[in-house]
Amino acid sequence: MNQTLKTGSDGRLLIGGLAASDIAGQYGTPVYIVDEDAITAACGAFTTALAKHYPGNARAAFASKALCFTYIYRVVQKCGFAADVASSGEAYTALRAGMNPEDLIFHGNNKTLSDLEYALENKIGRIVVDNFTELSTLDALCERLGKTANIALRLNPAVNAQTHEFVRVGGIDSKFGFAIGTGDALAAVRTALASKRLKLGGIHCHIGSQIMDSEPFEFAAQIMVTFMKRVLDETGYLLKELNLGGGFGVRYTDKDAPRGIEDAVRTAAETVVKTATELDFPLPLLMLEPGRSIVAEAGITVYTVGSVKEIPGVRTYVAVDGGMGDNPRYALYGAKYDAVLADNPHAPRTRAVTVAGRNCEADTLIKDIALPELKPGDLLCVLTTGAFNYSMASNYNRVPRPPVVMVKGGETFVAVRRETFEDLTRCDL
Ligand code: LLP
Repeated sequence: MNQTLKTGSDGRLLIGGLAASDIAGQYGTPVYIVDEDAITAACGAFTTALAKHYPGNARAAFASKALCFTYIYRVVQKCGFAADVASSGEAYTALRAGMNPEDLIFHGNNKTLSDLEYALENKIGRIVVDNFTELSTLDALCERLGKTANIALRLNPAVNAQTHEFVRVGGIDSKFGFAIGTGDALAAVRTALASKRLKLGGIHCHIGSQIMDSEPFEFAAQIMVTFMKRVLDETGYLLKELNLGGGFGVRYTDKDAPRGIEDAVRTAAETVVKTATELDFPLPLLMLEPGRSIVAEAGITVYTVGSVKEIPGVRTYVAVDGGMGDNPRYALYGAKYDAVLADNPHAPRTRAVTVAGRNCEADTLIKDIALPELKPGDLLCVLTTGAFNYSMASNYNRVPRPPVVMVKGGETFVAVRRETFEDLTRCDL
């Protein structure tokens, strides 16, 4: 079972020390439950590992696409984290939460003009420029507004990581970033340096998500530092910041064996130090941008079992009161999850079933999982749903999105309330 979850003396599943079934009883189902202490611990693990393994300055930023609502920015800010935002909407939420605009890193391969205007007007700390179109658009916008922009460049180191094709973005065939291998990256540096309005601070890469191995991070770190040295040699300009993105894998099921935060950070940090030392290049400010590894294992979703339908010799469908509207990851990536009964998480898994969602198509949450005998009314907890569940939820079939209930120090509170029917029609004219 997931490392942050325990069982109480009465055998029920606990999250943050409280029984999941009590929380479901109080707030209804489906409900996302997020253990704030687990998030704080994961942030702390990044900070500690960076301090231990990187002799230069280092900082972590939370990739807020993984879990985005006002309160979460307060949690990570308290942990000393910066934040990656991938739209003006995420930036707006972060600023509303009270984050320092200096601490925001604005990403995206196709930021709109209004995104860029928003970033400039709100003095966002770093705009990570993705491509030549954006370089010239931003330069022209700065000129029109009489502003300068602090930028980094998103580079593509062409590292192919073993992960799902849809989240593998660091190979050469990617919509993101200036490829180093084609010469685009160096050309982008020269273009940025030629502009009086663009202040180039550093470079960024993100090679993919849910990566278990260390090699892709080692390759990326090595290629990026080598590129920084090349920029110095060929242009005389010292890039001072290196952001290696996120991508550290987590444990969804028994088959996943993540290396752990300490080990993942050590690999990246040591490779930067080793490469910089070999090349006699000054240690840059090292940034990491974890999303999933901060929040995934801190969250569960509790559902109520509804219909159970057995097709003899074929399959048994156990349907729950949520589905692809609150967790689209099976539909998108064929993602695998584990689930347990809230009141008896260690009950023998006697039966292979498919957990179906309520949405009006072949909506699946977990395909072919061994679970105990389930009956209508049982509370089923899907584990490791803290990342890319709430943030990717939709109102498909006009199903209101579940609330996000936080657990902290043995107390619960609502960070995002359950949607109402009025919310569903709020924008309808
Ligand atoms: N930095 C950048 C620029 C990113 O694009 C991402 C994730 C991260 C950091 C954080 O990566 P993480 O540590 O969370 O792996 N929706 C997909 C995941 C998409 C990840 C997109 N970028 C999923 O549900 O698996």
